[in-house]
Amino acid sequence: MKTGSILGLCVVAAAAMAAVDLTLTPPQSWTDKQLTGFRTPLAGLNKAPRMLSEQAYYALPENNLKTYPVYTPDKEPPNYLDWLRQQDPKPLVEIDKLHTQADWIAAGKEVFFGRELPRFTGSEENLQLIRNPQILKAYRVQTTADGMLIGLRYVVREKGKVELGTDTCSMCHAQIHDGKLYAGLPNNYTPFGPLMADLTRRYAQISPQLFDNRRRSHMREDYRVPYLKDDPNLAVCDLPANDIADLYARVPLGVYPRNNTSLLYPVKIANLVDVKGYKYFDRTGTARQRDITDLMRYSGAIGDVSDALTNYGDGPNAHSVLVNLGLQKGIRRTPDALLYAEALYINSLEGPPNPNPFDAEARHGQEIFLTKAKCAECHTPPFYSNNKLTVAEGFTPTPEELKEYDILNLSVGTDPGLALKTRKGTGFYRVPSLKMIWTSNVFLHDGSVSSLEEMFNPDRLKTVKGHPFGLDLKPEDRAALVKFLKTL
Ligand code: HEC
Ligand code: HEC
Repeated sequence: MKTGSILGLCVVAAAAMAAVDLTLTPPQSWTDKQLTGFRTPLAGLNKAPRMLSEQAYYALPENNLKTYPVYTPDKEPPNYLDWLRQQDPKPLVEIDKLHTQADWIAAGKEVFFGRELPRFTGSEENLQLIRNPQILKAYRVQTTADGMLIGLRYVVREKGKVELGTDTCSMCHAQIHDGKLYAGLPNNYTPFGPLMADLTRRYAQISPQLFDNRRRSHMREDYRVPYLKDDPNLAVCDLPANDIADLYARVPLGVYPRNNTSLLYPVKIANLVDVKGYKYFDRTGTARQRDITDLMRYSGAIGDVSDALTNYGDGPNAHSVLVNLGLQKGIRRTPDALLYAEALYINSLEGPPNPNPFDAEARHGQEIFLTKAKCAECHTPPFYSNNKLTVAEGFTPTPEELKEYDILNLSVGTDPGLALKTRKGTGFYRVPSLKMIWTSNVFLHDGSVSSLEEMFNPDRLKTVKGHPFGLDLKPEDRAALVKFLKTL
């Protein structure tokens, strides 16, 4: 560090000391001790997948690389790309400069919006695509008032070379409300499915080779379930390009065919505001949340795709082939300090003010919720979830599971596909919290219901089965119930 006077430094240090929170030492996210009991057993495998050991995880090289916002062409600062070409690679977070809680949370925000997810970096074609205003319009990437495209970043890995990176956490976990950006809320604006359908068709048009490399091989690694006999997810990967594109095009807004789900069983994007309230992560309760290191680990695993190093079974196909994922250069891990900062940031998030008034009708709806309709038995206030796992239709938990986990041994009868036929398939569906449900545009784990009105309309059962609660109420009571839900 360059500084004029040692004395000056001491004064600064003393001033900073007052605000230093000594509890803010990043914990280790990946200890063998905490890995034990982290993941929930998978249906069909009858045990939890085996994650990378502590030793192997910490042997991975670290990644802490500064990335830069991407702007729409009309709002880009003058000579921005030239300026980027003059930048040296720098760390995303300067860890030794973090002292106060506020410093850590601010760093966590950088990580949330700027953390590079290596699978999606470095494509020249994509860089051209996002500089095309027509494509930007069609892809509906969320854009702030000053023209920043949320989720996309420029990456400077070596001086002079600017690459495009996509899929930071904010790509899926942020929502713009009344022109204001809210991190943590699900992105239900960008049509991820149709967008991937479009890219699929483009790849196939360019060459069968590119389609195989960029789409088919990734799908196989992301979606196949090695321990499932006649894996339907694998069969989909062999369909003609157009059929695959059609399946992507069907994925509703607010839903994502995430790795470990599948194109047949995609999942609703999570709301991370209040995620700290859950005992289990994911709609299928794939892992426990016992303390902040669990959130760090979840984030480390998805962000760095070290999940690709997780063993899903015992056979030769039990884990991913990295080359097929475009990860031939290997996998890096995010330093614990960054994971910690990001977890603190996520746990500090707040949602937008609720515009829906708690009026007389909503109050009536609340009464129905608490008494007649018995919703509160599962969606227990104040979190509006009892934090239990329900059983997917067709699954029988073992006596050990019943003892070990918070299981409500009944099924709400929704589509069991995600819970039984994917690598997130624990056999369970978590009781979701209904807080901020007004910011959702789709409902149930697969987003198969597109409004709360539809959810509580008895006709819904003709197309989407399960969760029959509240359907036998009088129409005016159902309307009041919906009104109440929107105030949460
Ligand atoms: C491509 C979209 C996408 C990106 C990028 C993404 N997520 Fe998610 N995230 C999802 C979806 C979809 C789910 C729901 C998964 C499920 O229920 O199985 C989810 C679930 C989660 C959960 C569990 C929430 C809950 O309710 O239990 C956490 C925590 C999380 N994501 C954090 C992150 C972090 C941190 C990053 C960045 C490293 C990230 N996500 C990047 C789509 C995404
Ligand atoms: C027996 C437990 C149980 C009861 C009773 C219950 N729910 Fe649910 N609820 C669930 C489960 C489990 C899910 C998730 C199902 C899935 O993802 O497939 C859910 C999902 C929902 C959703 C969609 C949330 C989302 O994020 O997708 C809403 C809204 C909802 N319930 C409202 C209600 C209301 C209102 C009542 C009373 C009329 C009620 N529930 C009664 C267990 C219950």
